[in-house]
Amino acid sequence: SIPIFQTVASYREWRRRAYDEKKSVGFVATMGALHDGHASLVRRSLAENDLTVVSIFVNPAQFAPHEDLATYPRTLPHDLDVLSSLSHSVPGSSITRSPSALFLPTVNEMYPSGITQDKLAQKGTFVEVKGYGHQMEGSRRPDFFRGVATVVTKLFNAIEPSRTYFGQKDIQQALLLRRMVRDLLLSHPTLENLFIVPTKRDAKSSLALSSRNAYLTPSERELAAPTLYAALQAAKTCWESGSSKAEVIANAYNLVERKAQELSSLETRIDMRLDYLEMNDPETFEVVPGEETRSAWELEGHNRPVILSGAMWVGRTRLIDNVVLGDV
Ligand code: PAJ
Repeated sequence: SIPIFQTVASYREWRRRAYDEKKSVGFVATMGALHDGHASLVRRSLAENDLTVVSIFVNPAQFAPHEDLATYPRTLPHDLDVLSSLSHSVPGSSITRSPSALFLPTVNEMYPSGITQDKLAQKGTFVEVKGYGHQMEGSRRPDFFRGVATVVTKLFNAIEPSRTYFGQKDIQQALLLRRMVRDLLLSHPTLENLFIVPTKRDAKSSLALSSRNAYLTPSERELAAPTLYAALQAAKTCWESGSSKAEVIANAYNLVERKAQELSSLETRIDMRLDYLEMNDPETFEVVPGEETRSAWELEGHNRPVILSGAMWVGRTRLIDNVVLGDV
């Protein structure tokens, strides 16, 4: 079974041996409740590294006081089953790789100065990627990326990964962490060694896999949740056919609104509404102006993609998703 390290000190002994043996260490950071999206990151790491470390840590600093820290799914036995089911056979050799270590720290281990949900009462060291944490997800969750940047810095310092993998599902998180790695001159990983892995979706409904999908009732999952991706796809088509950003967004809102009407009149009434849906520049995260069209955007020399992302409430569950327009 997979070795579990609960302290940084015990992990570091293991890491020392990997250095001595000149073995590369791939790293996948998670909050557990593992699903096939997490598994796709682990598989990629297994294919590209001698050793693969996965962390499971539900990070208090990235939850606002009113959010779901207490109820966030904690499913360690299931997670261990998922990890032990993953393997990669190295082409042209008889070597089969499986996850090498699980880093499972306590809150005290990760926050030696303590951590409280009350931001004003917090003490200790925090990492803020200024100017990039208030758009998109940050517009709705103002302290979220400070919590993410802080814990991922700590995880990188503890794990010292040769390569690390993040999901496109959380595109702003991955891009913000790239900027953090660059700004802090990190060497484990380097900017070149932080990879973004495509979003894994349910084969039938295209719903993005997420630990928070566990909160949904079967009918919410089947009838309501896939609407977010459907709206993103409709918006993509609309943008590609030449509509302005304002039209693209209005269309997507209308699509969700019509579906929401339909679902609210069901016998088992389902509440669903968009939190936001926006188009943003992947470099600056700034909102694309309303009058912008695809051809104008490209003519202006923005020879880079656009992020189309959104969040949607289904009952009391908040889901996020995104698509990238153009090549990443
Ligand atoms: P968590 O939501 O558990 O996600 C862990 C990693 O899995 C993230 O990089 C996320 O983008 C990726 N992931 C989640 N769903 C995915 C899907 N359907 N397809 C592909 N990748 C997916 O993101 C976090 O945890 C935390 O913020 C963390 C980075 C661990 C810091 O606490």
